[in-house]
Formats: sequence, structure tokens, C-alpha cells
Amino acid sequence: MKVAIVTGAAKPDSIGHEVALRLLKEGMRVVVADLYEEGFAALKQCFCVRCDVSDPSSVEEMIGKAVKHFGRLDVLVNCVGGSWGITRRDLIAAPPLGFRGLTNCSLEEWSTIVAANLDSVFYVCRAAAPHLKKQGGAIVNVASIAARKGIPPGSEGSSGPYAVAKAGVMGLTRQLALELGEFGVRVNCVAPGVIASGRLKRVLQITKQDHGPEGSLKAIPMGRVGTVEECAALIVALCTDDTSYMTGVTVDVNGASYAA
Ligand SMILES: NC(=O)c1ccc[n+]([C@@H]2O[C@H](COP(=O)([O-])OP(=O)(O)OC[C@H]3O[C@@H](n4cnc5c(N)ncnc54)[C@H](O)[C@@H]3O)[C@@H](O)[C@H]2O)c1
Repeated sequence: MKVAIVTGAAKPDSIGHEVALRLLKEGMRVVVADLYEEGFAALKQCFCVRCDVSDPSSVEEMIGKAVKHFGRLDVLVNCVGGSWGITRRDLIAAPPLGFRGLTNCSLEEWSTIVAANLDSVFYVCRAAAPHLKKQGGAIVNVASIAARKGIPPGSEGSSGPYAVAKAGVMGLTRQLALELGEFGVRVNCVAPGVIASGRLKRVLQITKQDHGPEGSLKAIPMGRVGTVEECAALIVALCTDDTSYMTGVTVDVNGASYAA
């Protein structure tokens, strides 16, 4: 039976949560790695491990526990990300109002956001790679439309460093695909537009505007935001053998908000 790790899946309304449930339905054993321990009770079918993905030692420990528990690793989905709600301290806090661009964010904001969105993906992939290489497998990273087109000032709950970090995730995906191809490990990336996860709902509750973290909701050609199910379905497809010759790519899921 295949074993999958999903980071950022403990919040019940997150994209990662839906991915974890769908991987279970695919017949995989699923490890959830998250800081939000309050969400573990609702994931009884998964092996839940407290982990801060922006801390390399916490990541090494989590991968060790997962492999010890299930004996192998086939699939890794890196879902953790965001420009708030990415540290234990602000996990349940309200989103900060205002837009922080590259030139008006603090050094602390820059390093926190880059650590959670980009460094984390490197840490988890690096720790998982030796196990994935044993029999082959799949990695799916989650970037953002923000990396494709940037984030306009006025977008609440997001920031310039987030867009930059997510562009790094796309580059990391391509590089890893080149390095791991000979081991039968595929590495792909999904770039969501505006998706109705808890993250978006929390921003909209506060701003009562049409601007979410990834830009204006009115500017979506399909006329609506995406659902976590629509985003998770794509991620899971990239985890399975249905996409066995796809690697090194970033796939958009954004209602035509941007075409690469
Ligand atoms: N929702 C959107 O509109 C949207 C758009 C584009 C990209 N994305 C990306 O999709 C991914 C999932 O987004 P979401 O909307 O489901 O987010 P979310 O905030 O709903 O869920 C994120 C999950 O990650 C966990 N987490 C946060 N920081 C962590 C850390 N340091 N270590 C371990 N776990 C941590 C949280 O507890 C939560 O379970 C993110 O990478 C996000 O940047 C989302």
C-alpha cells in the first residue's frame, strides 16, 4: 500500500485536508504533518504528526516518524503556505489588514514568509527524497497565481514576499524533477487562483471587500472562486499513476485568471 505525506492538512477547511481525504480514498496510507494539533482529532484515519515545516529539525523528525510508522514513502504533497497563519503564534489569529509589498515589509516578515512557503518545501523534499528514491514516487508542491502575475497593492491578507516565495517553489519543482527523474520520482506543482478555503473565508469576513489574498474576485473570468475539491482533485491526479509521464511542470487551476 502506498504511503503519502501531506503537509498543511489539519485545518478542516484547507486544501491539504481535502487532499488527505482523497488520498485515503485512493487506497493510500496518509501522514498529516501540521502545526494545528487541534485538527488531528478529525483525521483519525491518518497518522498525524506535529511539525513546523519551516524548522528543518522538526521536518527531519516528522519524516523519520512517518517512515518508521509505515515503513516506506511514495507520495509527498507540500500544502503549507500563506502570508499569514503560518506560524504557531498566528495560526488562529485574524488575518492582518493591509498589503505589505517588498519595500515596506520588515526583515522578519520577509524571512517568516519565505521560510514557511519556500524553505519549507526544500526541507521536506530533501528529507523525503532518500525514501522516495527507493521505489519511485511523486511530489506535488503548491504555488500560487501570485507567482505568475504578482499581487496588486490592495490585496488583503497577502504580500510581496509571498509572491516571490511561490515563484521559488515553481523553480524548485523544475530543478527537483531534473534531479529525481532517473529514480522514477516525479515532481510537479499546482498554482491555484482564488480558492474558497478557510483562508479566503477569514480574509473576506474581515475586509467585506471583493479583494482576497490573490487579488480581485471580480476579475475571475469564470465568475467565481474555485473550491478546495476542485484544487485537491488536480493535486491528487498528479500523485497517482494516471499522470505517470508528467513531471517538472506547474499546472494552473484558476478559472482562467491567468494563463501561463
Ligand atoms: N486558498 C487560496 O485561495 C490559495 C490560493 C493560492 C495558493 N494557495 C496555496 O495553497 C496552499 C494551501 O492553502 P489553504 O488556503 O488551504 O491554507 P490554509 O491556511 O487553509 O491551510 C494551511 C494549513 O497549513 C498549516 N500550517 C501553517 N503553517 C504551518 C507550519 N509552519 N508548519 C506546519 N503546518 C502549517 C495550517 O495549520 C493549515 O492546516 C498554500 O500553500 C497556499 O499558499 C491557496
